[in-house]
Amino acid sequence: EKDVIILAFESSCDETSVALVKNGRELLAQSTATQIKSHQRFGGVVPEVASRHHIEQIIGCLDDVFSETGLTYADLTAVAVTYGPGLVGALLVGVSAAKAVAFAHQLPLVPVNHMAGHIYAAQYSAPLEFPAMALLVSGGHTELVYLAAENSYQIIGETRDDACGEAFDKVGRVLGLNYPAGKEIDELAHQGKDTFHFPRAMEKDDNFDFSFSGLKSAFINTVHHADQIGETLSKVDLAASFQQSVVDVLAEKTVRALRNYPVKQLVLAGGVAANSQLRDRLAKECEQLDGVQLVKAPLKYCGDNAAMIGIAGYVAYQHGVRADMSLNAEPGLEF
Ligand code: KG4
Ligand code: ZN
Repeated sequence: EKDVIILAFESSCDETSVALVKNGRELLAQSTATQIKSHQRFGGVVPEVASRHHIEQIIGCLDDVFSETGLTYADLTAVAVTYGPGLVGALLVGVSAAKAVAFAHQLPLVPVNHMAGHIYAAQYSAPLEFPAMALLVSGGHTELVYLAAENSYQIIGETRDDACGEAFDKVGRVLGLNYPAGKEIDELAHQGKDTFHFPRAMEKDDNFDFSFSGLKSAFINTVHHADQIGETLSKVDLAASFQQSVVDVLAEKTVRALRNYPVKQLVLAGGVAANSQLRDRLAKECEQLDGVQLVKAPLKYCGDNAAMIGIAGYVAYQHGVRADMSLNAEPGLEF
């Protein structure tokens, strides 16, 4: 049988990424241009700045994957692209590039949900088996997604306010860390202890939803109060306490979901899935829940990248998902 080679584009936030993926398994090449440095002085992603960077970078990324592999457009089976959720002006750059390639070379165009991309990134670790549960934790989302079968998604719980990555980043700003702060908080937390016992919102509630704004406020109030009375708090203990609270709530709700929905696998995905304490904790929880296999996206594919869009695009392609030239960015896209 002929190889299925997918050219994939990702530009939903602050990474411009292009990849070539073979048969939904093998990453042939990936080129990613990150713009994090340009956004750091603003403490978060500035949409207008992001769009301009994507426009400057995307052709270079595209050239890279072809020169690296020696492939040509004639070798392609389809073009896959993230069309949401994300920043509208950022998404439009990838969508326009993908449409141009598909049109010029008469290739099928496959629209991909960014969050599905995060889930299927786990297939670079192990093949997904269904039914599965996914804990999706990123800068913009915190969701428990039930996958009854391949290419089927049902959100069973989500955050009612901040995403958990967003909480990491906001708390990081208060600690004087650079954006995005998740990785650094992860490292600091290892050196500290949970001495502050921040709230664990909705932990015992009988649902699969999350809330992180109360935790964020409690954290900020603690730091500001200490500032006012001239007390210096331990940075590592603050980080450890915050992270412990996040991990406790994520683990509690995920275990609750796994008890209610018998599944073969728990898929941990999204930028925050890189968190070492979360990875360890869910591994332990799955050991105790007989028969649930934990599948973690490899660390290098937890953050935004086109490799994951190539795999999710392959799955969607096999299921006959296609778009035409009217494809538009959908910033608020849901499953
Ligand atoms: O999925 P992603 O790359 O972008 C979005 O689609 O949002 O996720 C980015 C988020 C950021 O909030 C970042 O701080 C967080 O992932 N993050 C982490 C870690 N590495 C990245 N959070 C906690 N621990 C980490 N090790
Ligand atoms: Zn993402």
